[in-house]
Amino acid sequence: MRKKSLITLLLFSFSLSTFSQDLKARIKIDIERKIGEINNLLYGNFTEHLGRCIYGGIYDPSSSQANADGFRKDVIDATKNLGVSIVRWPGGNFSSGYHWMDGIGPKQNRPKRKDLAWGDTEPNIVGTDEFMKFATAANVEPYVCVNLGTGTWDEARNWVEYCNAPTGFYYSDLRAANGHPQPYHVKYWGLGNEIDGEWQMGHRNAEDYSKFALEAAKLMKWSDDSIKLIASGSSNYGDDWMNWNKTVLTNLHDVIDYISLHHYAGNHNKDHYRFMSSTLFVENVIKITEGLINQVRLQYKQQKPIYIAFDEYNVWYRAYTEQKLEEHYNMQDVLVVAMYLNTFLRHANIVKMANMAQLVNVIAPMMVTNDKLWLQTIYYPLQLFATNCKGYSIDALVQCDTYDEKDYKGIPYLDVSSSYNDKTQELIINVVNRNQEKSIQTAITNQFGRLDNKAKVYEINSKNLMDENSVNEQKVKAVEKEINIKGDDFDYVFPAHSFTMIKLKIKS
Ligand code: AHR
Repeated sequence: MRKKSLITLLLFSFSLSTFSQDLKARIKIDIERKIGEINNLLYGNFTEHLGRCIYGGIYDPSSSQANADGFRKDVIDATKNLGVSIVRWPGGNFSSGYHWMDGIGPKQNRPKRKDLAWGDTEPNIVGTDEFMKFATAANVEPYVCVNLGTGTWDEARNWVEYCNAPTGFYYSDLRAANGHPQPYHVKYWGLGNEIDGEWQMGHRNAEDYSKFALEAAKLMKWSDDSIKLIASGSSNYGDDWMNWNKTVLTNLHDVIDYISLHHYAGNHNKDHYRFMSSTLFVENVIKITEGLINQVRLQYKQQKPIYIAFDEYNVWYRAYTEQKLEEHYNMQDVLVVAMYLNTFLRHANIVKMANMAQLVNVIAPMMVTNDKLWLQTIYYPLQLFATNCKGYSIDALVQCDTYDEKDYKGIPYLDVSSSYNDKTQELIINVVNRNQEKSIQTAITNQFGRLDNKAKVYEINSKNLMDENSVNEQKVKAVEKEINIKGDDFDYVFPAHSFTMIKLKIKS
């Protein structure tokens, strides 16, 4: 009798604990299992002549924040604090109708043009020389996307000459006459934007684009053979995107250094778990494109590598042209942005550049409201990655519970990436807990040994996934704490719907 009641009690407490218990998981890290070197250009950004990104964003001479050149000091400071390495410019869709000669010389002589990409007026007050001033002030590498929509080969190669040639040629002398005798040495050049999309000015099929881009590339490289070229890859994930990338790689493999990919995620169906699976598609696009790169390089016995530049990514589904793309981000979006970055790190061998679209006001990590700068929720994951994840990306073993949704089965609740910097001996573990209700108790093992007993933890979370920041309130931000660790195995509980970065140190 006594025995029976004991068993009943045990069974009861077991069922109780399974209901109230955290989920359980395991992460094992071995710093010798390197995926690839993390290129700092993974922490790039993008500024387009669109809404209040350039005018009223990075540039506003009427602001109390303006520097002597009219650029906002607060935006420059927040860009530096974000750890931005490279900024793509002038678009985007805008670049496919942009004639760069409109934006140089005395400002009073520059034409106002109708911008057909966004149905706006382009005053041409910020042009090449101004953008270079911004890039210098913000300490970022400039990345110029040429117009291969309505533009010509001559415009493309003359732009390279204007930016990079020493004086003594027509366009470089123009640059000198405009106040900058020294070349800008712009290294990264995009061969057009999203030419695969019907919405693009000068949209072409893959064959026509590649032929046109090949000649532009040839002339641009003849103008400066040290430049790196980025082909316009897929942005439009209909039936044909793989063929687009294959054709572009086949025709341009000789001249390009990167193929660009674009992707935007959205919670259109208001379905948390579906939204949390968005980056699985991104992961597939990267893997397939890497396969195509390998196929083409093998076919042409090409030694020169071709990398992926993921030069537009973000959450974008609420604010379109009428709202000037001024998305307000919440806690749920933080998780997706962290998963984009986890995905790029997990493919750091092939993804060597990534640019969050965009920098300020327009689908951006920072906003300016009534002349005051404030940080959106998505600022924080990008900042944490950009300022901490350096060195090598590490292949983490993750075992955890999974869920199914419409397009994908067996989605792990934990999305994980890891990096190790052998200069600072910092080992980073980035974890998104996709689970909306449950925390996940995780046994973490550092296979290499010699773990320091102090670690830092940065967590981004909020009670409500819909919590946003505003000019008056920073509800969602990174919170830092220190933890003590004994030995090389420790447990950590990742709270429901959170992003956590654990910063460990390997002792020398
Ligand atoms: O970033 C906003 C727009 O999204 C870009 O102009 C275009 O390239 C993409 O479709």
